[in-house]
Amino acid sequence: MFRAMRVLFSTAKSGAAGSAGSPSRPLSASSDSRRLAGKVAVITGAASGIGKVTAAEFVRNGAKVVLADVQDSLGRAVAAELGDPDTACYTRCDVTDEAQVAAAVDLAVARHGRLDVMFNNAGITGGNYAGSAIESLDMADFDRVMAVNLRGVAAGIKHAARAMAPRGAGCILCTSSTAGALGGSGPHAYSVSKTAVVGMVRSAAAELAARGVRVNAISPYAIATPMGARSGREMLGLPPGGAVDEELIRRLFDEDINEMGGGVVLRAEDVARAAVFLASDDARYITGHNLMVDGGFSVVKPLNVRAC
Ligand SMILES: NC(=O)c1ccc[n+]([C@@H]2O[C@H](COP(=O)([O-])OP(=O)(O)OC[C@H]3O[C@@H](n4cnc5c(N)ncnc54)[C@H](O)[C@@H]3O)[C@@H](O)[C@H]2O)c1
Repeated sequence: MFRAMRVLFSTAKSGAAGSAGSPSRPLSASSDSRRLAGKVAVITGAASGIGKVTAAEFVRNGAKVVLADVQDSLGRAVAAELGDPDTACYTRCDVTDEAQVAAAVDLAVARHGRLDVMFNNAGITGGNYAGSAIESLDMADFDRVMAVNLRGVAAGIKHAARAMAPRGAGCILCTSSTAGALGGSGPHAYSVSKTAVVGMVRSAAAELAARGVRVNAISPYAIATPMGARSGREMLGLPPGGAVDEELIRRLFDEDINEMGGGVVLRAEDVARAAVFLASDDARYITGHNLMVDGGFSVVKPLNVRAC
């Protein structure tokens, strides 16, 4: 075994291992602001929050983007802000309707000749963050959340794979959540749906790696997007809306539940940059991964020790 390792080492050192398969690229494209140049992407849930910011970050990095959502006027306005219709366009796509997901993928292929990146990001929280008892679990709400957060992702993976696998290349991203990694940080249906997204990603990645398609999840911690702010109000027991809420919401997200020190607060831009990395060729050997963008929230639990 040691001999085998020595052989491996000397081969790697001489560079022979790198010459097998695809050619290596120069290291680090981190200063390159066009890491997605020429790539074609579909982003669901792109009219708002993380999807909207990611669409902008993708365009800034040279991608052409199809924004898919159910908020038509908002989605159209976001697309128009991002550039000409060739760079960014909007299409209505309710991810609970498989035919609409298929149509969004087909639109990208018809417009741009192919699909490189599918970001299955649309999601809803359902339920109530204030914590409803499992005994009164609303099964209709449970089904609604699953239909968007899990079935919608499954349809996105299915139809992206249909476009990508024959070309032997592509990247599928799916938004999960820290609520999928830990119980207790979201309503039951939401938490379960986000756990299942990671399972879906692993299952699809297992099949698609050999066909050149990568599938990864991104799991953000709490961000004050429209969805996040709604959840924040529920956590604080506040009624929806209201100017006075804004400072309370800011304090909740930026101070009380913030995990990082040094003045760093989680923003949708942080998730967008993680998506750019995973979508770029820098991540070409990364698949089946769940990238936590959470300041360590899901892996840290300080001991409750009281000093004497
Ligand atoms: N904000 C957070 O704290 C947070 C944390 C972890 C994970 N997430 C996840 O990030 C993703 C984006 O959430 P966000 O915070 O940007 O919320 P958001 O509400 O700002 O954006 C979600 C978007 O999804 C769209 N959408 C909802 N149902 C849809 C459907 N059936 N078909 C198509 N589009 C639909 C909405 O119209 C909206 O534009 C979600 O999957 C969410 O679960 C959010």
